[in-house]
Amino acid sequence: MNDQVIDRPTSLAQRVIDWMDERYELRSLLDAMLHVYVPREAKTFYLGGITLFLFFMQASSGILLTLYYQPTPDTAYNSVLFITSDVSFGWLIRSVHAWGANLMIVACVLHLLRVFFQGAYKRPREITWVLGVFLLFITLGFGFTGYLLPWDQRAFWATTVGTESAGAVPVIGDFLLNFIRGGATVSDVTLTRFFGIHTLVLPVSLAAVLLVHIVLIHQHGLANPKKPAGQVKPDEEPGIPFFPHYILDEAIAWYIVLAVLVILASLFPAGLEAKANPLETPAHIKPEWYFLSLYQFLKLVPRTVGVLTPVAAAPLLILLPFLDRNPEVAPAKRPRMIAAGVLLLLAITILTVWGHFS
Ligand code: HEM
Repeated sequence: MNDQVIDRPTSLAQRVIDWMDERYELRSLLDAMLHVYVPREAKTFYLGGITLFLFFMQASSGILLTLYYQPTPDTAYNSVLFITSDVSFGWLIRSVHAWGANLMIVACVLHLLRVFFQGAYKRPREITWVLGVFLLFITLGFGFTGYLLPWDQRAFWATTVGTESAGAVPVIGDFLLNFIRGGATVSDVTLTRFFGIHTLVLPVSLAAVLLVHIVLIHQHGLANPKKPAGQVKPDEEPGIPFFPHYILDEAIAWYIVLAVLVILASLFPAGLEAKANPLETPAHIKPEWYFLSLYQFLKLVPRTVGVLTPVAAAPLLILLPFLDRNPEVAPAKRPRMIAAGVLLLLAITILTVWGHFS
């Protein structure tokens, strides 16, 4: 046996890693993070990861936009016009941000549906679900506050109509309306407020909730959609190595989403209407597609009922894992919950299409 030690020169990168590892034990941290297994039966369709990727895209394109964007009624519109027509690739960054917002909501909702239909919210993943619902609300909050920022006619009037619904909440309606708008009408205060929420409050909240969401996913591992958590025998594990197998597939999914995003942004760039004019109400004011079902519902029922229904439904969605006591995960063994989910999805889809064409 040759016990001669070969003294290879170590690279600078290697020495830096060794230096860090000696002090912070990074290798064991990385090992703990990466060397986990994904159950063979798990089918995530990479939707959580895709939502995460789109959040990164939104954060980076958003930071670039704030380099030129100016959040006052006198300057907002012109600064967006400047980004679109004068800044190199400004139109592309803005369009990527606008399309990214839509795709992030689509990915987030599809991720929620996958978790729901696979029963992956059940014990021990209740809190992962609760945090997920908060992530969805924060993502919708990004859409709502971001819509006002270009300060064009569509932005101004959609926000006027959207915030008006808050006024219909019994007892606290007036307070809520004034709080959101920063006064009786949509004004410079609303714009500053929405800008602050959109660029600081929501990103920090999303990052914090997301961190815990991901730590919990790491703690539990991914759910097996074929068997409830208690029935998975230890000898059936492990499944597919998270690193490099799952990560590689995830990277391919991100790459495809990036291509779709850039193609959409290039072919259908974000538009801009005339500058906001509080004295001239446009003929048709409609919210973005993801609020259309709510908008149509509000048109069909008395206002208070229309506003209170989502207020009452939100806690039900948040607390779903605690309300659904059936431990089974296979759809065939939970027909009532699956039927309720399908019916709700159908109702939201019909209201959205109706809202679009009405
Ligand atoms: C910004 C939004 C979100 C991000 C970035 C995110 C990220 C992720 C990621 C990366 C995973 C790993 C598995 C996968 O890719 O599917 C995951 C799992 C999970 N997510 Fe989310 N998520 C978000 C929103 C949501 C929402 C809206 C819900 C549900 C209300 C939710 C509930 C869950 C649950 C329960 C798991 C564990 C699933 C399992 O073990 O199979 N997440 N999430």
